[in-house]
Amino acid sequence: MNRAIATTVALAVSLAAFTGCCGESVDKLADRVFDTAISQYKEMDASLSEGMLPRTFENGKLVESGSGWWCSGFYPGTLWYIYHYTQDPAFAAMAESNTAKVLPEAYKSVTHDIGFMINCSFGNGLRLGGHDEYAPVLEAAAGNLAKRYLPTTHTTRSWNGGGPDGTWLFPVIVDNMMNLELLMEVWKRTGTDSLKTIALDHANTTMANQYRDDFTAWHVVDYDPSDGHVRSKVTHQGFSDDSAWARGQAWGLYGYTMMYKETGDKTYLDQALKIGNMLISRLPEDGIPYWDFNDPAIPSTLKDASAGAIMASAFADLGRLAPGADGKRCLKMAKKQVRTLGSPRYLAEKGENGHFILKHSVGSLPGKSEIDVPLTYADYYFIEALLRLTGRLD
Ligand code: GLY
Repeated sequence: MNRAIATTVALAVSLAAFTGCCGESVDKLADRVFDTAISQYKEMDASLSEGMLPRTFENGKLVESGSGWWCSGFYPGTLWYIYHYTQDPAFAAMAESNTAKVLPEAYKSVTHDIGFMINCSFGNGLRLGGHDEYAPVLEAAAGNLAKRYLPTTHTTRSWNGGGPDGTWLFPVIVDNMMNLELLMEVWKRTGTDSLKTIALDHANTTMANQYRDDFTAWHVVDYDPSDGHVRSKVTHQGFSDDSAWARGQAWGLYGYTMMYKETGDKTYLDQALKIGNMLISRLPEDGIPYWDFNDPAIPSTLKDASAGAIMASAFADLGRLAPGADGKRCLKMAKKQVRTLGSPRYLAEKGENGHFILKHSVGSLPGKSEIDVPLTYADYYFIEALLRLTGRLD
C-alpha cells in the first residue's frame, strides 16, 4: 500500500467492524463464516484427487481442474486466508501443498490470468505465510505477464484469440485490471520500474477505451496490434455488447481501487468512486447483482454471488481509502453485501455444496457454463472482504 494513505486506512478499519446498522456485527458474521469455511475447506482438501484443484460442484459432483484453469490460484489463496485467520498449522500445510500445484503456471506467458493464478496462491503465501522463497516465483510470473504487453496498444493482452470466427486480434477484457496487482506487487519488492510503467499504461488505456460515459465497462475491447486502434467493443460473457455484465463491473471497481492503493494517484480513486457510485445506484436492495445489470428478465433471472463477493471486497477497501461520505457509502455497501452472502440463501451449510463456501454464482451464462453453482473465486473474495472489514488484511 502507498504509505501516504496507510494512516487513513488504519483509522477507518478500526471503525469498520463496529459500525453496522443492526443485527449481527461484522465481527460475529466473520467468525460464523470462518467456522463454516474451516469445516468446508478441510473436507474439500480431503476430497481432491492427487494434483487437482476444485473448480465447481455440479449435479451432485465435485468438478476439478488442473493448474492451467484460470481459477487455479483461488483455492490455495483462500486456504492462505483461512490460515491467516486461524494461524492453524494444518491450514498452512494445506495452503502450501495446493499452492505447489500451481507452480508450472508461473513459467508460462499464455494468458493474463497468470496474475490471478500466481498472486492469489504464491503471493498470499509470501505475504501471509512467511514463504520468502516464493518471491522468485512471483517475479517470474510478473515477467511473463509483462511479455503480454504491447507498447502500440498500451495494454497487456488478455486472450490469444477468440471472437466471432476467431477474428479478434488483440482482445483486452476489463477483468485484466485485476492482474496488474501482480505487476505492482513485484515492482514494490524489486523496484523493476518497467512493471509499474506497464501497469499504469494498461490502467490508463483501459480507463480511456473500456469505460462508457455512465462508468459501466464493456467486457472486451479488441485492439489492432499494428497501430493500436480500437477495432471493436463487445461482450463475451455478458447479455449483449452494450450491457453491463456484473462481474466485469466488479473487476473494474476492484482494479481501480487497487491501483489507487498502490500508487496514491487520485485519478484512480476518482475512477473507482465513479464506478462504485454507479453500482450503488443500480444494485438490488440486498446488494447482490443479477448476473448482468441489463438482462431484461430481471428480476426473474440469476444473481451472481461471485460478482457480489468481488464488489464487497473492493467496496471494503475503497470504503477505508476514500474520504468522508464517499468512503462511508462504500463501507455500508460492503457490509450489506457480506451480510447477504452470509445468509442461508448464499452461505452453504457444513457438508453441503461440495464443500464450497458460497452458493449461487454464474460463470458464463452465454457460454452455458457454470450456471448457478459454487465457484472458487466467489469464496476467495468473500473471505477477503471479511478479513478486510474486520481489519485483518490490508
Ligand atoms: N475472468 C473471467 C471471469 O470473470 O469469468
